[in-house]
Amino acid sequence: MSLILADVAAEAANCTKCELAQKRTQVVFGMGNPDADLMFVGEGPGAEEDKQGLPFVGRSGKLLDRLMAEEMGLTRDLCYIANVVKCRPPDNRDPKPEEVDTCRSWLERQIQLITPRVIVTLGNFSSKLLLDTTTGITKLRGRSYPFDSTQSDQREQNYPLSSTGTVIIPTFHPAAVLRGGGLPEAQMRSDLVRARMAISG
Ligand code: URA
Repeated sequence: MSLILADVAAEAANCTKCELAQKRTQVVFGMGNPDADLMFVGEGPGAEEDKQGLPFVGRSGKLLDRLMAEEMGLTRDLCYIANVVKCRPPDNRDPKPEEVDTCRSWLERQIQLITPRVIVTLGNFSSKLLLDTTTGITKLRGRSYPFDSTQSDQREQNYPLSSTGTVIIPTFHPAAVLRGGGLPEAQMRSDLVRARMAISG
């Protein structure tokens, strides 16, 4: 029997692999269409997401929904939304490097099963992780990148680049747009237009 996303979600729901498991209400695995062409990847659940068990349901999510509708003509049920870490970091602190490292296999499995054409990374955490870089989002955004889906442990052993044809389009996290106002919002809008064009090929 082939593994489907719901099986991976059920497995993740009981995850206790890092200290975030101690204070979370529930695992926020992800939501949307498991066959989507478009995936958004944020940072980690906040208070509202932890309560509802769904990603991007607070203020940032409302902005994401609006810009997605205005620039791409899409609603969230047509794409898939996930985060780098699946459990809320207490007091909304940044996820620690070891938490990101422990949690990354869930995200890698999500991407493998969904095989989206386009992944829009929202902010520094997901952009740096999926592009395997230390460069910040302000420099990264504004273009698209081929996604190297080879897992990091295999990359170290020089396995050949696996080509799913997926591209990554990095943009600002909606929380940064809420703080930053006009310019980051205009830039995020143009990144979403780029994503729309990349999906239609
Ligand atoms: N911020 C994120 O990065 N993810 C969410 O799910 C909500 C807010």
